[in-house]
Amino acid sequence: MKSNRDPEQLFLRLAQLAGEYRRQQASGALVEYHSPGELAQLLDLEREQPGDWDEVFHWLELYLRYAVRTGHPGYLNRMWSEANLPGLLGEMTAALTNTSACTFETAPVATLMEKFLLSQMLDLVGFPQGVGQMTTGSSNANMIAMMVARNRACQAVKKQGLFAQPELFAFVNAEAHYSFDRAANILGLGSGHLVKVAVDEHGRMRSDALAGALAHVRAAGGKPFFVCATAGTTVRGAYDPIAPLLPLREQYGFWLHCDGAWGGPVIFSPKLRSCFLPELERADSFTFDFHKMPGSALMCNVLLLRGGAGVLRETLAAGDESYIFRTELDGSLRDLGTLSLQCGRRVDSLKAFLDWKFYGQKGFAQRVERYLALAAYAEEQVRQSADLEMVVPRESFNVCFRFVPPAGQDAAALNTAIRARMQEEGRYLVGLGFVGRELAFRLITPNPNVDEAAIDAFLGCVVATGKSLVAEQQAARKTSR
Ligand SMILES: Cc1ncc(COP(=O)(O)O)c(C=O)c1O
Repeated sequence: MKSNRDPEQLFLRLAQLAGEYRRQQASGALVEYHSPGELAQLLDLEREQPGDWDEVFHWLELYLRYAVRTGHPGYLNRMWSEANLPGLLGEMTAALTNTSACTFETAPVATLMEKFLLSQMLDLVGFPQGVGQMTTGSSNANMIAMMVARNRACQAVKKQGLFAQPELFAFVNAEAHYSFDRAANILGLGSGHLVKVAVDEHGRMRSDALAGALAHVRAAGGKPFFVCATAGTTVRGAYDPIAPLLPLREQYGFWLHCDGAWGGPVIFSPKLRSCFLPELERADSFTFDFHKMPGSALMCNVLLLRGGAGVLRETLAAGDESYIFRTELDGSLRDLGTLSLQCGRRVDSLKAFLDWKFYGQKGFAQRVERYLALAAYAEEQVRQSADLEMVVPRESFNVCFRFVPPAGQDAAALNTAIRARMQEEGRYLVGLGFVGRELAFRLITPNPNVDEAAIDAFLGCVVATGKSLVAEQQAARKTSR
């Protein structure tokens, strides 16, 4: 007999599963780890029982069973963790109504919520005359900012492409996110036109090196059109100062973008903003992710432009859109899809709106301040440990450290093995990245279930795992002699 297909019963069944998952996700193992091959066998993906609702729940249960519990205190891997509950309810509701936020007529409430949220963010950042949009993440926001800058610098580019235009050059911190390489590729610039500017000992873009690179490009007949200050680099968490870039912008006329995907949420805390992001309001555009530090469900991003509504609209307007978009009789913008890269748009506004209403600026500020305090705590513990060392001093939210290997042993290989062992045991998942030539654990804690005790336990596990791996390797060497 086929199980009940009444939607209400199905939702109740799902609610029970979801509730249990959420209740338990911070306890037990972080993940029931299996290699891809083992997992494929366990899942038995070939299995088929069409039309059976119990089967649907079988797959949902399997999905949850092998999911990485991102709200677990051992989840220290990425810039996001479990989703905030208000926004998660919004995300589920948005999926329920299954519509596209490209037009008012298909998503009336989402459109107004998005406009409301964007105007709040524009005011908060200090772009009161600006324009914004929710995009599919900071990678795409960075690309859109670069595209707007490109079309502003070369007005003929939209029609003629990059053929017969002056050679355009973009400039970023040498440790900027890889999305800029992708953007340079997609926008037809080519990687040779993305200049990676040297960093100082803090991982911040050196403004003297930038000035030199700009002068060099101009002297060779090129046109600098875009500079990005990163607010929180991916591995080190460095903030590029904006102030020294302002006179250079005056001189060269480039578009000054700020990539705050990771560290941008310091804007919620006046104290942290004045410390990490002074002069942000003078940048031309700014992006940050609600789905990273603020904790909204993935994906949830805003791109804000200080002015440039016209350039954005002009850049993105394409072909005959009359079949879909409507303007108000007074000509004002009604459909957000006209400013978007894609046609269909997920409703991301509902979750961000609910999180914003529930936590408010104060709640987000407290969260960001707490994550910074936890990073400081973690750094202190690393410094006090005889078995651990900082690979570079902490700049903000990122703690780049490693287990100290015995003399003569390769640190990168040992630390990679420590990470893999902790993952396979279902205990910890932690980021690993290069700082210059050194491989480091990148400990970040945008996870509301992480506290000082969780950090102590994690660092203790790194040390214990490191020691047992070293002992195992020594024992293996002895037996092979
Ligand atoms: C500094 C920085 N910029 C951009 C991105 C890309 O963000 P998204 O994952 O939203 O595309 C990241 C992601 O880690 C990042 O660290």
